[in-house]
Amino acid sequence: MRGGNERYENNGLAYKIRRRFHERGARLKKTAAAEGVGVKINGAEVMLYRRVSSTNTVMKELAASGLKDGSIIWSQYQSQGRGRMRRKWDGKPGRALLFSMLVKAAGLEARYAPLYTLFTAAVLAEAVKNVTGLRVGIKWPNDIVVGGRKLCGILSESNLYSGGKVNYLVIGIGLNVNQKARDFPSEIRPASTSLNIETRRHISRVKILKAFLRAWRRRTECLKKNGLSYIVEIWKKYDITLGREVEVINGERWLKGRAVDIGALGELIIETLDGNRVKCLAEDISLGKYYYGKG
Ligand code: BTN
Repeated sequence: MRGGNERYENNGLAYKIRRRFHERGARLKKTAAAEGVGVKINGAEVMLYRRVSSTNTVMKELAASGLKDGSIIWSQYQSQGRGRMRRKWDGKPGRALLFSMLVKAAGLEARYAPLYTLFTAAVLAEAVKNVTGLRVGIKWPNDIVVGGRKLCGILSESNLYSGGKVNYLVIGIGLNVNQKARDFPSEIRPASTSLNIETRRHISRVKILKAFLRAWRRRTECLKKNGLSYIVEIWKKYDITLGREVEVINGERWLKGRAVDIGALGELIIETLDGNRVKCLAEDISLGKYYYGKG
């Protein structure tokens, strides 16, 4: 963390975070064991690490030890960050906001779990918009984009009870905050962006996390009142996918059509050229150059 605004936001919190993170030149610890300093941010338990394999992996290890709903693992760096579709998620230390949140959605039917990644994307899009004023969009299911470039990825992993019910979810978020274009590997550079690139300002990650937690709490209250269909409703406010031509790629499966709706489980419904409607759940979609550029 580079001092800056974060230093003044909350003296006690900033002091702890700075002691933990503001160590340019210091050697990063080899294991997470001596790390995990706890701070409270907007009522949430946040454990700070300088280096972990993956915040999702650490959260999964700690989840059984009585952590509270909404607890967060935040790390400066991940040596084995994971993305969707078994991809790697790499990054320079200290520039991105990398964290995992424990969501104790106990009793939720497993088939509804994918809706929580849509929920997370909508809540994070709202937080980013509130802090930066940027026009952010969501590419189904949960890539947050600005001007067609990817700003954030979300990886949700479920722990299930027998009987197909959720015990808890670990929702991992990688938000590009203060990276410059040169910080992205060349192969993903054209398709990636950060808040710094878009706003030309240094953006406080604590500010973003706080805004996210505030929005999460508010939207969760509404979710309890309105039921799961509320997720699709708020997701659609940021949607940049529906109405566009899409290609779906998942291993052997390839199909092309128009994205027409989101189903009750968070699936993308595609109308193919022959008029059939097909539901996609875990697939990766491409909006194609022409459409992607407008997001
Ligand atoms: C994607 O493929 O778009 C999802 C990327 C998710 C990356 C985040 S970074 C924090 C958390 N820990 C991980 O190992 N992955 C997620």
